[in-house]
Amino acid sequence: MCGIVGFIGKHQAAPILLDSLSKLEYRGYDSAGLAVRNGDADIEVVKAKGRLKVLAEKTNDGKAMQGTCGIGHTRWATHGEPSETNAHPHHSDDGNVVAVHNGIIENYQELRDKLAKKGYEFYSQTDTEVAVKLIDYYYKKYEGTPVDAINHAMIRIRGSYALAVMFKEYPEEIYVARKDSPMILATANGESYVASDVPAILSYARNVYYIGNLEIGRLRAGEITFYNLDGDEIEKEPKEIKWDAQAAEKAGFEHFMMKEIHEQPKAIKDTLGSVVKDGKIDLSNVGLAKEDIENISQIHIVACGSAWHVGMVAQYVIEDLARIPVRVELASEFRYRNPIIDKDALVIIISQSGETADSLAALREAKSRGIKTLSIVNVVGSSIAREADNVFYTLAGPEISVATTKAYSTQLIASYILAIEFAMVRGQINQEQYDGFLSELSELPDKIQKIIDDKERLQWFASKQANAKDIFFVGRGIDYAISLEGSLKLKEISYIHSEAYAAGELKHGTISLIEDGTLVIGVLTQNGLYEKTISNMVECKSRGAYLMGLTTYGNYNIEDTVEFATYIPKTDEHFAASLAVIPLQLLAYYVSVAKGLDVDKPRNLAKSVTVE
Ligand code: F6R
Repeated sequence: MCGIVGFIGKHQAAPILLDSLSKLEYRGYDSAGLAVRNGDADIEVVKAKGRLKVLAEKTNDGKAMQGTCGIGHTRWATHGEPSETNAHPHHSDDGNVVAVHNGIIENYQELRDKLAKKGYEFYSQTDTEVAVKLIDYYYKKYEGTPVDAINHAMIRIRGSYALAVMFKEYPEEIYVARKDSPMILATANGESYVASDVPAILSYARNVYYIGNLEIGRLRAGEITFYNLDGDEIEKEPKEIKWDAQAAEKAGFEHFMMKEIHEQPKAIKDTLGSVVKDGKIDLSNVGLAKEDIENISQIHIVACGSAWHVGMVAQYVIEDLARIPVRVELASEFRYRNPIIDKDALVIIISQSGETADSLAALREAKSRGIKTLSIVNVVGSSIAREADNVFYTLAGPEISVATTKAYSTQLIASYILAIEFAMVRGQINQEQYDGFLSELSELPDKIQKIIDDKERLQWFASKQANAKDIFFVGRGIDYAISLEGSLKLKEISYIHSEAYAAGELKHGTISLIEDGTLVIGVLTQNGLYEKTISNMVECKSRGAYLMGLTTYGNYNIEDTVEFATYIPKTDEHFAASLAVIPLQLLAYYVSVAKGLDVDKPRNLAKSVTVE
C-alpha cells in the first residue's frame, strides 16, 4: 500500500533512498519517485511510471541527483491511475512543500474544493496532492513552523496517512506525521532515516522509533525530535530490531516466495520455541492468565485474506479441542456489522503485518466495547500489536513476498498452541493428550522439510497447469480451510481463476462450471471425511474433471481415482493444515514461474493493505 522512505545525513541521499525503496517495493510497484535537495538549493523531483528500476535508470542509480537530504516513494495506486503525474512526491504550486504519502485521505474531495476556492490548482488526481497543498495553505496562513502547519492539516484530514514532508525554507530537515499507516524512524552514525517498514533501513540502522498516531517527527542529520498534536515535544525510546539484514535478502533463491517457503521449518521451530518451554506451554509473554482462559465464553477470530484462512483452521481446532464456540469473521465485515459480542468473549485478531486497516479497525471496535483482545502478529511494534490487550508474536522474520507462506504457517502454530492451552486449562484434555499434541507439533518442522525436499514432482505437475482456465479446490472440515488457502495462493500469483469449495457444496451450483479437463484438487487429510470427499471428486470426474489428490502417506488407493496424487507425512489431524499447505504453496509458485509471472509482486496487489 505504498512505501515511503526518507534520509538525511552525510552521504548522497538518492542511492540510499533507492536502496531502501527496493526493500519496500512489495508495498506497491506501479510508479516511484524521489525528491532530493542539496543544501538550500531547490528541491529536485524525479518520478517514473512502472517498477523502481525505471526510476533507477532515469536517475542513473541515483547518481544524477545531488543532495544529502531526500524522500522517496513507491506507489500502489488508490486515487488516480498509475502514471508519472500521479506518482509521488507531490509539491505545492510554488514548490514550497514537497511530500510523499502512504494511506488514504477520505475527505480529500471536500479539502480539494476548499483549496480550489483559495486559488490552489491541482495537476494530479491524488489525495496526496491535496494533503501537500493543505499543509502549504496552513504554513502560509499562520506563518508558523512546519510543525504548526502539519498539525493544522492533521486536524482537518480524515483517513490514514504516513507523510514525509520537505519545506523549501527548512533545508536539511524532513518532517513526518502519521495516523493509522505504518512508519518507523531511526538514527545511526550521525544520519537519520524514516521508512514504512523495517527492512528498508535494516542495513543502515537497528534501533528504531515507532511514531504514534497523530504525532509528528522532525529529522535532522543524526537527530530526531517528536511532537504531539499541540506541538509539544515528546520523548520516545528506540527499540532494537533483532532481524538481520540478510533475512530480508533472497539468499540465492530466485524469488522471496521460494526462500520463505524454505524458511518455514525454522519459522515454526522459532515460534514454538518462544511459547513451549520444557515440554509445557508458557504464555507469560503473551500475558494470558489461567483465569482469563477459564472465563472465555466465546471467541471471535477476525482477520483478512490468508490470516482469515488461518482463522478457519483455528475454528475447527479450538472448537474440537477446547470446546469453546468460535466464530471466524472477515475484518472488513466485522467492523461494520454491529456484531453481538458477549462481554466475556475473546476477540483474536490475526495479522502478519499488524497494520491491515480493516483488522486494526476491528480490533478498535472490539476494544471500544470493552471486550478482551488478543492479537497474533508478526511485525514487532506494529499498530495491532501495540493496541491489542495481549499479543502473541509469530517469529516468521521479515516476509517480503506479497503471497504469504511462512507467516501463515506460524499463525497456524500460534492457533494450535492457544487451542491446546485453552483445552488443558478448561479440563477438556488430559496430560497424556496434551503431551501428545505438543510432541506432534515439535515434529512438524522435519515433516515440512521432507515435503519441501520432494518439490520436483510438484514442479513437473505444475508446469502442465500453466494454461489452465479454472482450478477448483475441494475438501471438508479442516481440508476445506486448507483448500481456501491453496486456492488463494494459486490465483493471486498465477492469475488463474480458482475457487475453493466445501466438497459437499459443489453440487449446489458450482458443479455446472466443471468442463472437460477442468482441474479439481481434492484435499483429504481427515480420515473420517476421506470417503465423502472422494465421492465428491468422482462426481466431478464424471463431468470431465481432471483430478489431483492431496492426502497422507498410506492412502495410496487414491491413485485409483485421481490422475495425480501427492502425499504428506502423517500427523495428528488437527495439525494437518501445516503440512498440506506446503504442496499447495509449491504448486502455486511453480505455476506462476511456468507462466513467467512476477511471483513476488503479483499485479494489483500489495503486501500490507493499510487502506480499507
Ligand atoms: C495472501 C496474503 C493476504 C494477507 C492479508 C492480511 O497471500 O498475504 O491475503 O494474508 O492481506 O494481511 P495481514 O496478515 O498483514 O493482516
